[in-house]
Amino acid sequence: MFQGGSEWSFSCGSLGIGLARGNCTRINQLSLQVAHITLDPPVFLAPLAGITDLPFRNLVQSFGAGLVVSEMVASQEMVQAKPGVRERAELGVDARGTSVQIAGREAVWMARAARMLEDNGAQLIDINMGCPAKKVTNGYSGSALMRDLDHAVTLIAAVVEAVDVPVTLKTRLGWDDDCLNASELARRAEAAGVSMLTIHGRTRCQFYKGQADWSAIAAVKDAVDIPVIANGDITSPKAARAALAASGADGVMVGRGAQGRPWILAQIAASLFGKPAPDVPQGAQLADMVRGHYEAMLEFYGPKLGGRVARKHLGWYMDEVGTPSALRREVLTQSDTKRVSLLLEQAITCGERQAA
Ligand SMILES: Cc1cc2nc3c(=O)[nH]c(=O)nc-3n(C[C@H](O)[C@H](O)[C@H](O)COP(=O)(O)O)c2cc1C
Repeated sequence: MFQGGSEWSFSCGSLGIGLARGNCTRINQLSLQVAHITLDPPVFLAPLAGITDLPFRNLVQSFGAGLVVSEMVASQEMVQAKPGVRERAELGVDARGTSVQIAGREAVWMARAARMLEDNGAQLIDINMGCPAKKVTNGYSGSALMRDLDHAVTLIAAVVEAVDVPVTLKTRLGWDDDCLNASELARRAEAAGVSMLTIHGRTRCQFYKGQADWSAIAAVKDAVDIPVIANGDITSPKAARAALAASGADGVMVGRGAQGRPWILAQIAASLFGKPAPDVPQGAQLADMVRGHYEAMLEFYGPKLGGRVARKHLGWYMDEVGTPSALRREVLTQSDTKRVSLLLEQAITCGERQAA
């Protein structure tokens, strides 16, 4: 069985320059090694339910990302539904550089789900203890587990025991300002065998309000020896640099910042970790990419559901380029998928910001 942090090796670049807090100009190339898996660069795509599906993860990875995390899967439901070959393929469980996230509140289902995913090729399992949604916390899953660390640790230990692949944990700073217990959870999770932590710099009760507090993640980093990843409001290389400097974290995780900009992780990796700069598509090339993403979604979900699910992505792309509002509306209300594909060419290339 994998024994938690002991199989991690954490390597800095050739000059061995670390991420000293406050010394944000001296960030060097880093990679994280998890057992036989190298996470390089340490710039990861966050799980976003309903957004980071397989087509979007593939697109982000085509530009470059050290790791992408699947949308959360409810443990008990997944085990009881016994996904067939097709569903498993769609989950992308065994896709390269992908971690599969599970949520739940009962050790037995969490352990069985983790084992099922591992049997189907998952290379990393992430446990969700950060989701603030009421339908999740009312079921005592997600961030609700921060109010009962003994139970949280029981779940973590059950998952670590159940699988050989590395297990990671994603959580927040605490439940609320009176319960900032991420460091304690981190210490106990490390002792239970967790290999990496991602901390969203907000409490559960903040939901997504205010600014993520990157400096508060520093206490968690100081509490453990396993790698700690900073998350929350990292939307640019500048923000990533500031988050690393304030937190001393080993890497960053980007969620909403990648919406409409699937290349942003690669831009962060280029700016901070010396990776080649991505070729950011513009004009006709961008329209091709957007159409390709749209068609991948139609194929993945089927035309009816795919057309609906794609709308938020298309909206973000059009916001990025500044598509005139009448054309934007036409794209987003059109139900004929062939017509949407045709309109996209115009909607993306005639954007005001691109033309400017
Ligand atoms: C629509 C949406 C869905 C999310 N789904 C998940 C999820 O399935 N699992 C999880 O751990 N976090 C989830 N999160 C939280 C994100 O992973 C991330 O921690 C948060 O958005 C802060 O990072 P960001 O500012 O880079 O987006 C979700 C957030 C949003 C906005």
